[in-house]
Amino acid sequence: MCGISGIVHSENIGRNLFNSIRNLEYRGYDSCGIAMLRQGTIDLRKNIGGIDDVNSKEQLDQMQGRIGIAHTRWATHGGVTQENAHPHLSTNRKFAVVHNGIISNYKELRESLQSKGVIFDSLTDTEVFVNLLEESFADCNDLEQSFLAALQQIEGSFSIVMLSAHDPEHLYCVKQESPLLLGLGEGCNYVGSDLNAFLEYTRQAIVLDDGEYVVLGQDDYQIRQVQTRDTIGKSVLNIDWDVETSKKGGYSHYMLKEIFDEPQTIRQAMKIPAGQISGIAEMFVNAPRSYLIGVGTTYYVASISQYYFSILADCFYPSLSSDEFTVVKIESGDMAFAFSQSGETYDTKTALEYAKDHGAQTAAVVNVMGSAISMMVDQVIMQGSGPEICVVSTKAALAQTFIMIRVALELGLMQTRISRKEYEKHQLDLEEFPEMVKKVLNEQSGFVRNIARATSHVENWLFLGCGVYYPVAMESALKMKEVTYQHAEGMPAGFLKHGTLSMVEPALHSLFFVPPPEEKELHDRTLIAMEQVKTRGGTAIALMFQGDKRAHAVVDQSIELPPVSILLAPLMQMIVAQMFSYYAALELGRNIDKPRNLAKSVTVG
Ligand code: G6P
Repeated sequence: MCGISGIVHSENIGRNLFNSIRNLEYRGYDSCGIAMLRQGTIDLRKNIGGIDDVNSKEQLDQMQGRIGIAHTRWATHGGVTQENAHPHLSTNRKFAVVHNGIISNYKELRESLQSKGVIFDSLTDTEVFVNLLEESFADCNDLEQSFLAALQQIEGSFSIVMLSAHDPEHLYCVKQESPLLLGLGEGCNYVGSDLNAFLEYTRQAIVLDDGEYVVLGQDDYQIRQVQTRDTIGKSVLNIDWDVETSKKGGYSHYMLKEIFDEPQTIRQAMKIPAGQISGIAEMFVNAPRSYLIGVGTTYYVASISQYYFSILADCFYPSLSSDEFTVVKIESGDMAFAFSQSGETYDTKTALEYAKDHGAQTAAVVNVMGSAISMMVDQVIMQGSGPEICVVSTKAALAQTFIMIRVALELGLMQTRISRKEYEKHQLDLEEFPEMVKKVLNEQSGFVRNIARATSHVENWLFLGCGVYYPVAMESALKMKEVTYQHAEGMPAGFLKHGTLSMVEPALHSLFFVPPPEEKELHDRTLIAMEQVKTRGGTAIALMFQGDKRAHAVVDQSIELPPVSILLAPLMQMIVAQMFSYYAALELGRNIDKPRNLAKSVTVG
């Protein structure tokens, strides 16, 4: 959360810095700003609102200079005000910083600085650090030393980039828990809180580790340990993400574009080498106990995977929300498998640290290369879905689910739960899936849009499903809440009669995730719940497959999908439910790519 960017260049960088925080806007979008050094003076412009809003007020893209820092904010300490927006300046205006994370001991430090006469403009923890810099520099007159001295005083999680009028050639950067990467260009270098900060300008990146700081110049950089000051050699990664995939490409929103990316995303997931998939399956086989963890959408991906492991491999691995994981007893040899699009989520990172501290094995599926989670686990699957810009996850979540079906199939084969013949038949279904998804997206979107439009006024939804369709319903309800701000509650269809049925009346709409009729037991159970809703005067809409006459006869409206293998039918419904939420939000005029109050990667607890 919060986007950080910094550039040191041989040419004017106003436009580039502005572009870089625009590319990071999904990390936070309540305010933003830029500080640049020009003729020995720090020019600071910041304000509240989205990047384009602030640009029209402050002309960020017109700023002049060769060295600067920028920030886009998701408020944690201090409300959304111009004063609280980053960058923050020291009292003498010689230092400017941008910060991501939380300085946990900021209150004591603030009081101590105030007692020495420092007057604060903002309520942020960050402004404490920039004034510590000014104080340390007054003592030692050495920029690097004052940076380190200020760092010694702060606690918590932080990635910080400092610009100072005392050194027009270098930015000073540090990473502790919150992510920070360098981008290496020709005659220019970059720093950012993720790759999108500089992907447009360079593909050469260095991932910083905790406790490292960098003095970053236009043609040079030194990476050192904060504690020892020892210089560290780090490998340079070549990032193979396609810049075009991070563009909107003619779609009205990233969310829609990313849903339409899904066939390609599945193809990428299919390309993950079989050896990697079986390596993960072996970890599950060898662990006495395994857990699946994630938060938000990735918790639901974990829950869907839990069902696939059961169905295909007869193995039960509980799924847990990462923030609840520390209630679980985990021991040496056990395994924690994490799901994370960003690879930065605090709750999931903390859960993995807990697992590691107890001697457990860890593994993860992650989308962002070089992210903290991808680096900390024993084994990682890089899903290769490309940048996902919309705050709500669509293509990344779908690809993760697809990858876990591959792992579950491998495990099923190892455990002789499925035969080689069944395995091969399933593999064929997986290979054909991208084309089927493409067809459904192209042929059904108009229809889905009509129903979403007609029901966009509905303020209360129940999303109901049985078996693996239950976590699919849960994930789809989350999507609906995130993007439309309407209430949607996911629940097992069989659970409805145990209480929630009292709410049923015509205004309450129920969306049923109906399995193909061949899934007889699940299908029957879903239809029983549908009847319960209808006989009590509720409104029922079905996401179902063509030819399902029984469901058709009961519901008020239906979205009927072409037949697909039983294995992949839940994923097809997940995709259509994403479209449904998108069109409902469109009709309601919501801020689809950046829903209110949310951020794409939540790096604080
Ligand atoms: C935030 C986002 C959610 C996302 C969750 C997990 O809460 O708003 O959309 O599902 O983080 O993110 P991750 O990057 O770990 O998958």
